[in-house]
Amino acid sequence: MGSNQVCFVTGGAGFIGSHLCEALLRGGREVVTLDNFDPFYDPAIKHRNLQAIEAAMQNEGIEPSRFRWVEGDIRDRELLESIFTGLKEAGKQITIIHIAAKAGVRPSIDNAPLYTEVNIVGTQNIFEMAKSFDVKKVIYASSSSVYGENKKVPFSEEDLVDYPISPYAMTKKANELLAHTYHHLYGIDMVGLRFFTVYGPRQRPDLAISKFTRMVDHGETIPFYGDGSTRRDYTYIDDIIEGVLAALRYIEKESSVYEILNLGESQTTTLQELVAHIESAVGKKAIIDMLPMQPGDVPQTYADISKARRLIGYDPKTLIEAGIAKYVEWYRAQEYGY
Ligand SMILES: NC(=O)c1ccc[n+]([C@@H]2O[C@H](COP(=O)([O-])OP(=O)(O)OC[C@H]3O[C@@H](n4cnc5c(N)ncnc54)[C@H](O)[C@@H]3O)[C@@H](O)[C@H]2O)c1
Repeated sequence: MGSNQVCFVTGGAGFIGSHLCEALLRGGREVVTLDNFDPFYDPAIKHRNLQAIEAAMQNEGIEPSRFRWVEGDIRDRELLESIFTGLKEAGKQITIIHIAAKAGVRPSIDNAPLYTEVNIVGTQNIFEMAKSFDVKKVIYASSSSVYGENKKVPFSEEDLVDYPISPYAMTKKANELLAHTYHHLYGIDMVGLRFFTVYGPRQRPDLAISKFTRMVDHGETIPFYGDGSTRRDYTYIDDIIEGVLAALRYIEKESSVYEILNLGESQTTTLQELVAHIESAVGKKAIIDMLPMQPGDVPQTYADISKARRLIGYDPKTLIEAGIAKYVEWYRAQEYGY
């Protein structure tokens, strides 16, 4: 990679962002990341994610100066301007990969205005930086939640996504609208990636697989929302990262790009099956407390990934049993309670 190129990644201390930074560095790139260590879950976990990146760099002989992290908020325009000014003065050609967000469907119902502030205004700030600092390539994280209660499966990028059922989903759809506006007006190439429930090492502690693994392991009762028949397309982190890297190669090669792509595994697992996989990987039985479905939860997600296959060569490979086994192996290797 030419030394004048840099990837500006937001949310690089989080679950997906930290794996992405690591993969970019491994691929020879220079990375600057901005993360505010949002207290949505323990910021100590995010510091450990950054330490893991630094340890991998050291092990693999990656020049430390190729990675820099800044603690700060995407809502802070002044800070963003100073970072982008610095990169421009250093003669860098910047590509943005915008991953930071307030994640989580259920907490978004409790604090919708905050989700709007971070996920919509914060995203617009990032797009404004692209406009002001002549950044021509932007990739950003969207979500399968934009499909809401879509009945038709698998979900295709062609489907209408005008009916979100949570504030979180609404903000992700709004990001796609913002992206189109900035693409149309300022010629910024934009790829939005609709991630389908991502899991694997460093997974957010609020998500089902990490929560259930911990609870089954500790013999705690699992709150089980619904009758266990809800289905998710669970996507292993390595497949997601391959997808983001493929999108990056694509956006760098092409011009006049405005695309939205599903990144899923394109296989679905019921909640009941998920628990069975976790039980077998952990080697213990789950104790389950059946509760009613939660508002905001969608009954199913299932990605049609033919567009991503065709356009960027996306080719996910991890079956759920294998992915859960890898997750549990990682969970066991942690010395701190994730
Ligand atoms: N994990 C999934 O299953 C999934 C599914 C669909 C979409 N996504 C999207 O992928 C992205 C990453 O999700 P994740 O699971 O890694 O979540 P995460 O919470 O682990 O990562 C998000 C990171 O963004 C940072 N952040 C939050 N607010 C910020 C702010 N105001 N300024 C700067 N940084 C801020 C957080 O501190 C965190 O490190 C998000 O955009 C999320 O909406 C995730």
